[in-house]
Amino acid sequence: MELGPGERLVLRGLLTAGKYPVLVASAAYLLNHYAGWDIPAWAVCLGALGTIPLAVFVAIRIRYWQVFSAAARHGAIIAPQWTGKWLGNLDILYLILEGYRNGYPGDFLWEKFNELGPTYRFNVLWGFGILTCDPAVIKTILATEFQNYEKGEMFQEQMHALLGTGVFNSDGDMWKWHRSMTRPFFSKDRISHFELFDRHAEAALNKMSERLRAGYAIDFQDLVSRFTLDSATEFLFGACVHSLRSTLPFPYNLSASSPFAASTMPLVSEHDKAEAFATAFSVAEHLCAERVMMGKIWPLWEMRKDKSREHMRVVDEYLHPILEEALRKKSQREREEKAKGEKRPEEVDGIEEEETLLDHLVKFTSDLTVLHDEVLNILLAGRDTTATTLTFAVYLLAMHPEVLGRLRTEVLEKVGPKQRPTYAIIKEMRYLRAVINETLRLYPAVPFNIRLSVNEGLLPNSNGKPIYVPAKVPVSYSVWAMHRREEYWGPDAQEYDPDRFLDERVNKYLTPNPFIFLPFNAGPRICLGQQFAYNEMSFFLIKLLQRFSAMELAPEAISPGMLPPKEWASAPGRKGKEKFAPKSHLTLYMTGGMWVRMTEVEDDENDVRV
Ligand code: HEM
Ligand SMILES: *[C@@H]1O[C@H](CO)[C@@H](O)[C@H](O)[C@H]1NC(C)=O
Ligand SMILES: *[C@@H]1O[C@H](CO)[C@@H](O)[C@H](O)[C@H]1NC(C)=O
Repeated sequence: MELGPGERLVLRGLLTAGKYPVLVASAAYLLNHYAGWDIPAWAVCLGALGTIPLAVFVAIRIRYWQVFSAAARHGAIIAPQWTGKWLGNLDILYLILEGYRNGYPGDFLWEKFNELGPTYRFNVLWGFGILTCDPAVIKTILATEFQNYEKGEMFQEQMHALLGTGVFNSDGDMWKWHRSMTRPFFSKDRISHFELFDRHAEAALNKMSERLRAGYAIDFQDLVSRFTLDSATEFLFGACVHSLRSTLPFPYNLSASSPFAASTMPLVSEHDKAEAFATAFSVAEHLCAERVMMGKIWPLWEMRKDKSREHMRVVDEYLHPILEEALRKKSQREREEKAKGEKRPEEVDGIEEEETLLDHLVKFTSDLTVLHDEVLNILLAGRDTTATTLTFAVYLLAMHPEVLGRLRTEVLEKVGPKQRPTYAIIKEMRYLRAVINETLRLYPAVPFNIRLSVNEGLLPNSNGKPIYVPAKVPVSYSVWAMHRREEYWGPDAQEYDPDRFLDERVNKYLTPNPFIFLPFNAGPRICLGQQFAYNEMSFFLIKLLQRFSAMELAPEAISPGMLPPKEWASAPGRKGKEKFAPKSHLTLYMTGGMWVRMTEVEDDENDVRV
């Protein structure tokens, strides 16, 4: 019989904790047997069980003492502590989990930053964790002392079911190998892929127009998720899943009465392996995100079986034939070349025009597991992040018609009303880039992240002595919080204003302190797809604004209970302004979708401007 993840965890715990009672019981037995002591059975039991909390207590005390004396030796301090009220600070764990599920992202840590400073610690179940939004600290863990802060075993274990060991989910030499293998694919001349974006963007926009003309609001988040999924599956492994061919969801109050009702809901039809793949991958992704949130004790939620397994089987059923076909083609090519006795001109590092990531990877390895993991790693890294950013870009544009107007003017002037944007033109569009940057500042697609210290280390502290970090301690950092704080961005930090990336505020805040803006991370593990993402998002936004001239949010179309709770409205800063409810798992998203209506440009209206 195979044990489930939770069962294994509990068993390990019992074995570890069990040795003390066993020791006490054995001692009692020996004393009774050889020394003739008559100890009553209840006393032995009590004594045996009592050793567990005692051993835990002593171990914790020793560890604290070690940590404090090590800090003193280094002339450093221990980060100020967020102290909870319940045993083991379980109330903090509760607050964090509850905040993740139902709160506004980052709320639970924001007040503590005000109270304790930008770096503090909290100890849940006597563990030791550090939390920061200080750009100097984030710079230390991501860049200057990169080798001392890794993703770590725990994160890798939580994500393993989904990602195996790919570039996103490995450390050390394994990570280096993956990164150097995948990196050339994202080199400059490869990252345009404009023909592909054009096709999928066109399909998405046609779908939108059709639905809007019929008089319905659309869920833009759902739509761009399909766009990024179709694009990604095509450029990653050359087999587009065509999620844009399925029916788009309808506003909720139509679902019951609409003639389309039966086909509105899921993106899957049972018959279609490609769509089943997409859904299974999303479900497994959510599951792993939950695991990361639970921390060390995630297996307790999966006692008997690994819940991801059935979904990953669906993923693999779709992916494996594709991988095998790529390998078959490779060996066929090699046989032909051998027969002709010629060597192909481009070697391993040469990149061909319409090459997929998979075509690229088979030049390095024929290991099915490596190919499988790497392709899924990039799908995870590149798909939701891009869809999220496009969703929030449009959310903000719909709330700020003046920005939309200016951006549209730039699009019409630089690209024209119908022309296809090129790489060179996109590079010149400064306002578009500022709009994307401002979106990534207020709504970074990866709002929270975590690293694990390898050895002990010191973190900078603007309030005085450096902060001591013991070995094997998780350091969480929130780019979300950092991007919104006045001490780094100035008094209007919570306002949406793309001009801050263009006017004197750049020189005042960003140029002297570039680590205050980290939507793509920094250091050796900086996002591999940054340029790719800017291109894909720019391309989509340009085509969107060529076709639509006005947008408005349609909160009435969302399912009941999905809108922000009433209390939010009175909150200061952005929270009080939200028209939908942002939430975060591994990436940020909008609860229940992001519903909008848009006004399509009349055909002759654009012709006039040509
Ligand atoms: C707006 C879009 C995107 C954002 C905000 C974003 C953000 C990030 C962030 C924050 C990380 C660091 C994660 C970590 O180390 O914990 C990362 C890593 C990565 N990203 Fe992106 N990303 C985006 C789009 C893409 C795209 C389109 C691709 C590829 C097609 C991609 C590929 C990767 C890869 C491979 C890594 C792992 C790099 C490594 O660990 O060495 N990303 N991204
Ligand atoms: C759905 O909601 C919209 C906006 O509140 C309303 O105009 C429309 O009549 C509703 N439709 C149905 C079928 O209830
Ligand atoms: C946007 O941010 C990137 C860094 O991620 C920077 O290189 C670029 O100059 C910024 N562009 C504008 C217009 O703000």
